[in-house]
Amino acid sequence: MFKKGLLFIMVLVTTFVLVSCGSSNVYEYILDDSYEGFITLGTSADYAPYEWPMSVDGKQTIVGIDIEIAKEVAKALKKNLKVINKGFDFLLDDLQNGKVDFVLAGMTPNEDRAKVVDFSKVYYEAIQVILIKESNLDKFTSIESLDVATVKIGAQLGSIQQELAEEFTKSQKQFIQAVPDLVLRLNDGQIDAVILEKPVADGYLANTKGLAIANIAIGDPDGGSAVAVQKGNAELLAVVNRVIDELIESGKMDQIVNEMILKNEN
Ligand code: ARG
Repeated sequence: MFKKGLLFIMVLVTTFVLVSCGSSNVYEYILDDSYEGFITLGTSADYAPYEWPMSVDGKQTIVGIDIEIAKEVAKALKKNLKVINKGFDFLLDDLQNGKVDFVLAGMTPNEDRAKVVDFSKVYYEAIQVILIKESNLDKFTSIESLDVATVKIGAQLGSIQQELAEEFTKSQKQFIQAVPDLVLRLNDGQIDAVILEKPVADGYLANTKGLAIANIAIGDPDGGSAVAVQKGNAELLAVVNRVIDELIESGKMDQIVNEMILKNEN
């Protein structure tokens, strides 16, 4: 009887530990011992080189262009950085509800989003591309060739790529929360085309055989990523914009971008 009880408790404890690890997707970056408190970033670490999970010195953490910029913002405020990692489709809600102070997630500013949050200047420009199988390069040569009933187009849930995919009227669509899952399905042949920011697609090209970028233009050629803060948080926005200016002018932004692209493509 006692043994059974113990076993039960052990199972319960293990379950609790597993469940809490699974949901506590929070990472702390102590930037300076003299800093007090944290500023909290919301991100979705499924988007290398912007942000992705990586084991550093045996410890699971999140790295990427956006994390480096967030660290600079935190330093400008003399605070340490806390990162909450969630599905991309949760980020704007979390920011509005004050669960996070700011969002960097390769997020493209647009009118709809600007109704609920405020955006910084664009810190990194990128175009959209369509990732396909290399063997389909001759088949998918135009928007029209993709917009047919037998073709399945994939995009991340809640992303501007979802909006771009929705413009295809005849093809089938699959909207999925995590970008790596989309690419897995592309590899499996469950999806024929995935719309992504070019730096992200380039990473998959470097790391996976048999993929290619279709010769088809899509989306805004002047698109890019910006930092989101809560509506009306002019104080934080001013700091963020100043940090972005400094990073761009000093050449540090280019350095961060190149470093993270290399890290991802290795
Ligand atoms: N730039 C696109 C957007 O703003 C996709 C961003 C996806 N970001 C991510 N961390 N998964 O909708």
